[in-house]
Amino acid sequence: MFSASSHLQAPRFNCFSVVCVQPKPGADGSYPVDRAAAVSGDKLLRDVMVENKIELYAAYGKLMNCGGGGSCGTCIVEIIDGKELLSPRTDAENRYLKKKPESWRLTCQTIVGNKENSGKVVVQRLPQWKK
Ligand code: FES
Repeated sequence: MFSASSHLQAPRFNCFSVVCVQPKPGADGSYPVDRAAAVSGDKLLRDVMVENKIELYAAYGKLMNCGGGGSCGTCIVEIIDGKELLSPRTDAENRYLKKKPESWRLTCQTIVGNKENSGKVVVQRLPQWKK
């Protein structure tokens, strides 16, 4: 027997919220925060940020980034929260971030989620600027 409801069910997606803390405080002394939503396991962190117009690169990186190839290092962020929800470091990251803290990632190599999980990821843009 035909069941309309079984054919009309929308696919379920696990979702993420991505929170990006900017590296310099605003006039009130607080650090600006940008937010975006992402489907789990669907996109690279770089793409989530760029598509949602979240500032990622410093001035030099805006002009000279490798376009997501994992070879320039201009897209580094520090994962403040939710590290376990992201894809593992790639070979490109292991090479480029060899002497950097474990919490640093290249956004162009990092997939947000694995299609099964959901949650919140908090990243610090330009961690190399932190004092
Ligand atoms: S954009 Fe070049 S390493 Fe990520």
